[in-house]
Amino acid sequence: MILNGERIFLERSVINSNLYKRVFKPLSKKNHVISERIIKRLVSRTFDNIKYSSSFKINDINCKNLSINVRIPFCRSQCDFCLFRSNPWNPRLAESYLQAVKEELKIYSNLLKGIKVSTVYFSGGTPTLMPEGVAEILEQIKQLYEFDGESSIEANPLDINDKTLSKLIDSGIENISIGIQSFNDEILAIIGRGHESRIALNAIKRAKNHGFKHINIDLMFALPEQNLEDLEYDLKTATDLEVSSISTYPLILVPYSEVYDAVKGGLIKLPSVRKEHSMYKTIINFLSDTGYQMSALWRFSKDPGGYCGPFEFNDFIGIGPNAWSVVDKTFSVNTPSLTDYIKTLTSGRLPILKGTLFPLKKAMKIWFLRNLYHVKVSKDEFRERFNSEIKKELKWFLRMLFIFGLLKDEEGYLSLTNKGLLYASDVTKCIALKLLPNFLII
Ligand SMILES: C[S@@+](CC[C@H](N)C(=O)[O-])C[C@H]1O[C@@H](n2cnc3c(N)ncnc32)[C@H](O)[C@@H]1O
Ligand code: SF4
Repeated sequence: MILNGERIFLERSVINSNLYKRVFKPLSKKNHVISERIIKRLVSRTFDNIKYSSSFKINDINCKNLSINVRIPFCRSQCDFCLFRSNPWNPRLAESYLQAVKEELKIYSNLLKGIKVSTVYFSGGTPTLMPEGVAEILEQIKQLYEFDGESSIEANPLDINDKTLSKLIDSGIENISIGIQSFNDEILAIIGRGHESRIALNAIKRAKNHGFKHINIDLMFALPEQNLEDLEYDLKTATDLEVSSISTYPLILVPYSEVYDAVKGGLIKLPSVRKEHSMYKTIINFLSDTGYQMSALWRFSKDPGGYCGPFEFNDFIGIGPNAWSVVDKTFSVNTPSLTDYIKTLTSGRLPILKGTLFPLKKAMKIWFLRNLYHVKVSKDEFRERFNSEIKKELKWFLRMLFIFGLLKDEEGYLSLTNKGLLYASDVTKCIALKLLPNFLII
């Protein structure tokens, strides 16, 4: 590997491929089958019978703290593994898009009077394709809203140059999340990522020089043809770079991706479920040993409060095509079509495709499942939000999780056990696979 023009060799001896065995007991085959059934049932019961309405409207927004997620729906090219569908980069279309975003923000500002905005997140597609646009949007948010929080942006290594980084820093963006995926060039090629590891290493170095408050990098695991040694090499490279946080996403194999076709066609092979669990355990042990605290199921941080992904906020509105909003007991999603999005906003209407108001019990359960992503759920926060006790409201559901040894009750929190972490990772993948294909296809 080349960094700063120097060849770096990682010593295999520092990597211990049996690392995970220390904390976790492997699940037996029988346990796997049972757990898969439980997971499927739990996800189906929670998400199958939601009734969405195409005439859904956001009216009285009831929350104290809101985040805004602005989705930039352009990419240079579509990566073969990606969950998110984007439009090819087109500067003229991006200009019309920018005007539509401003209109959507204006409409929401009238609905959100008196509500504080705590975070602004620019998510992908690829926001770093239009740094000037991002700066304009952030400026407009500051004018329209009571915003006194932090702002974060997702970045593709191919766009990370000094001009773009300076523009982002000057416009007030504090946190940057760079999509690395892997430091292994062969794996990057297999998953159809448009850059090599030397570009990624350079991007991280440049971002560090520009003084962002928090630098997160995204890695992926359980990738086709990836083995434990490849993963350990990625982890070792990432920790040596001393970034503020490392997100590690297991591949979610969506049916509209090129990787899906290649796997189904037998051209490439995914690690087995057991191997994926071993990889996840290795990640947890390796990163905790190198000073990274588990701040979410798939994120490890030296500064746990410093950065949060775009869908993790309790209440947020999503701006842009395909953007989701979760506010109080409501969920809604915008039209996936960029043309419809621009057209609807040109006529002064919100571009909501469909939405729903959850019944109270379902809202509680979904809130709990979403918050489990942070590994532990605060009983006080539940009480404050729903004016009741979590152990009373979700009694049977929680009891099942306790019986299976997935959850423990400690100091004001319900926390995932080691076994629970594995299941929670599988459940999160399963939920993404259930929800995303419904909303994301353009
Ligand atoms: C919106 S994307 C990245 C932003 C930017 N466009 C880039 O390419 O770096 C956010 C992250 O989602 C993760 N991701 C994308 N597709 C995924 C999939 N199929 N399974 C798991 N994670 C995925 C990747 O780690 C990616 O960096
Ligand atoms: S990973 Fe990033 S650049 Fe690649 S398709 Fe997804 S959003 Fe676009």
